[in-house]
Amino acid sequence: MAVSGADVQHAKKLLCSGELVAIPTETVYGLAGNALNPRAAATIYEVKNRPSFNPLIIHTDSLRKVNNYVASIPPVAQKLADAFWPGPLTILLPKTDALPDIVTASSRRVAVRIPQHSLTLSLLRELDFPLAAPSANPSGYISPTKVAHVEAQLGDKINYILDGGPCTVGIESTIVGIEEDRVEVYRWGGVSLEDLKAVVPNVQTYSNQLEESPAAPGMLKSHYAPSKKVIIGNIAELLRQYHHSEVGVISFMDFFPQIPENQQCVLSTSGDLNEAAQRLFSSLRYLDSPSIKVILAEFVPDYGLGRAINDRLARASA
Ligand code: TXA
Ligand code: MG
Repeated sequence: MAVSGADVQHAKKLLCSGELVAIPTETVYGLAGNALNPRAAATIYEVKNRPSFNPLIIHTDSLRKVNNYVASIPPVAQKLADAFWPGPLTILLPKTDALPDIVTASSRRVAVRIPQHSLTLSLLRELDFPLAAPSANPSGYISPTKVAHVEAQLGDKINYILDGGPCTVGIESTIVGIEEDRVEVYRWGGVSLEDLKAVVPNVQTYSNQLEESPAAPGMLKSHYAPSKKVIIGNIAELLRQYHHSEVGVISFMDFFPQIPENQQCVLSTSGDLNEAAQRLFSSLRYLDSPSIKVILAEFVPDYGLGRAINDRLARASA
């Protein structure tokens, strides 16, 4: 079992010696290692059972440090960084040779973000290297939003989990690339379309196509998935087709009295999409239990963080 605690110095010591540490961020927990150490990066792929073609995001605490690892920051990227960092936005930028190729899976662009979490920021400030950190889950499974989630799946593979409490955003970062004056969105996450457009008007989306051969490799069709079948539709109608004893329900706002309370998760009784995002992954994990055979879910309104929620639901059901 991994030890957990809020000891930044201990985390630093492990990371400096090439070991991995799970770290909290506002989005999800990350499985972090020294991004400048190819062996640490290789261990990340190994521990997650992640395909070697799927690159890692690097995390730092300042734009000054970002500049060591990227060849340039185009004006549009600078605007986004000013508006959203620290925060749940990842920007693809041209990499320098300072970063080993294994981190970007040989891509010439590196994904960078400054996370908004006080404990992790204080750790990053202490380090003279960035942290490569994918979500701290086995490849393909649901991202962890609590220490217990990391513990359950990677507890026997890592020595330390930096405990920063439950993640406040609860869904991964939005990933964007820059093409001249245009922002290209590869994954919807904690920064919404509305937020982006308020800063850069020209925003184009690639993320809702569920492509098989995506520009961001992690955008594979089946991802973020529990081991149970997830069916999306009108929950009341779906409930007529399944044995109530073996279904789990994830609804946006409504409770369904025809099935037991412990088989359903209401994402937000008040219809708050931020609260719904925060609860989505722990709800999927909770219902991914032996007694449940199928998870019934419904899409949420497609604006704000609703876009990211619907994207993850669609992938969970693919
Ligand atoms: O919120 C987040 O982004 C979390 C926290 C820990 O920061 N991290 C995260 O990492 O979600 P991960 O590895 O689970 O997802 C990162 C996604 C993957 O789909 C990967 O393919 C894509 O980003 N990605 C990373 N580097 C890339 C690159 N150089 N070019 C294209 N896509 C990249
Ligand atoms: Mg992930």
